[in-house]
Amino acid sequence: MKWQPGSHTRLAAVIGDPVRHSLSPTIHNAGFRAVGLDWTYLAFDVPAGGGAGAVAAMRALGIDGLSVTMPQKLEVAAAVDRLSPAAEALGAVNTVVREGSVLVGENTDGEGFLNALRLDEGVDVVGMRCLVVGAGGAARAVIRSLAEAGAAEIVVVARRSEAAAEAAALAPGVGRIGSTDAADSADLVVNATPVGMGEVVELGDALPVDASRLGAGQVVVDLIYHPLVTPLVAAARQQGAVAVNGLGMLLHQAAIAFRLWTGEEAPLEAMSAAVLAELAKQAGNIKP
Ligand SMILES: NC(=O)c1ccc[n+]([C@@H]2O[C@H](COP(=O)([O-])OP(=O)(O)OC[C@H]3O[C@@H](n4cnc5c(N)ncnc54)[C@H](OP(=O)(O)O)[C@@H]3O)[C@@H](O)[C@H]2O)c1
Repeated sequence: MKWQPGSHTRLAAVIGDPVRHSLSPTIHNAGFRAVGLDWTYLAFDVPAGGGAGAVAAMRALGIDGLSVTMPQKLEVAAAVDRLSPAAEALGAVNTVVREGSVLVGENTDGEGFLNALRLDEGVDVVGMRCLVVGAGGAARAVIRSLAEAGAAEIVVVARRSEAAAEAAALAPGVGRIGSTDAADSADLVVNATPVGMGEVVELGDALPVDASRLGAGQVVVDLIYHPLVTPLVAAARQQGAVAVNGLGMLLHQAAIAFRLWTGEEAPLEAMSAAVLAELAKQAGNIKP
């Protein structure tokens, strides 16, 4: 029988602004249906300044899970009862989990990034020399997770050197600021800037790293997934590198949240199929 919400249905949601483009409802609702859980997932527009109110609403309404996107990640970190070690180190929450009456702020981006590499590509970052371009929220999560997972060196490049230094400090002993020249000797190159993103017309064809510095033996990850084949992914593949987009990270960070909320393993195949179908619908004709 087709699932319908009822009086026992449990609710998870994403909050942020803008939030109407979010793929999270597609991913999680596909997961709930595939596993047969009586849960549903909605998106709520919550502008800056509304994070604490949204956490209070989660308490008052008994909402069981929250995904948090910009501009709420810092506000929510200040409003929950407890932070996980990753959320505390990053000062940002992307997932809220209910533990009885206690609301715990988590940050699943770094673990999602590592899981995408390990589980989808068979890549273990232990001992790798890494270059991360960008020093925003995603870069910081990636840098911290690379250090925790045993990367040998993490060079951080950003146009604001103080932001790069702060991000590099999340990888004590192995993080340092540098330039994209480090791509020459890097085993792993990560783009954590919007350069190459589909909607940003003036950046659309741009590369965050000179393609001539990429080559065989390297793994290149573009955290962007729109388009699915970004200019960086295309250039890196042409140079002989293994290159992936950000869809794996998106799915794996969601899978961690799904497990934390429901206690069930996330059905990644169903979630992935749903998100690819949604992206294809949005873009008209894109293919993985
Ligand atoms: N796959 C996933 O699951 C996932 C998750 C999160 C984010 N992402 C993607 O990762 C990217 C970064 O997201 P974020 O949340 O970290 O954003 P953010 O916090 O705004 O950080 C963006 C970073 O990129 C830099 N940047 C922006 N425009 C640039 C340009 N034209 N040239 C060079 N550097 C530029 C920023 O530098 P300034 O500080 O100087 O502006 C900053 O360091 C986005 O494309 C986002 O879609 C993917």
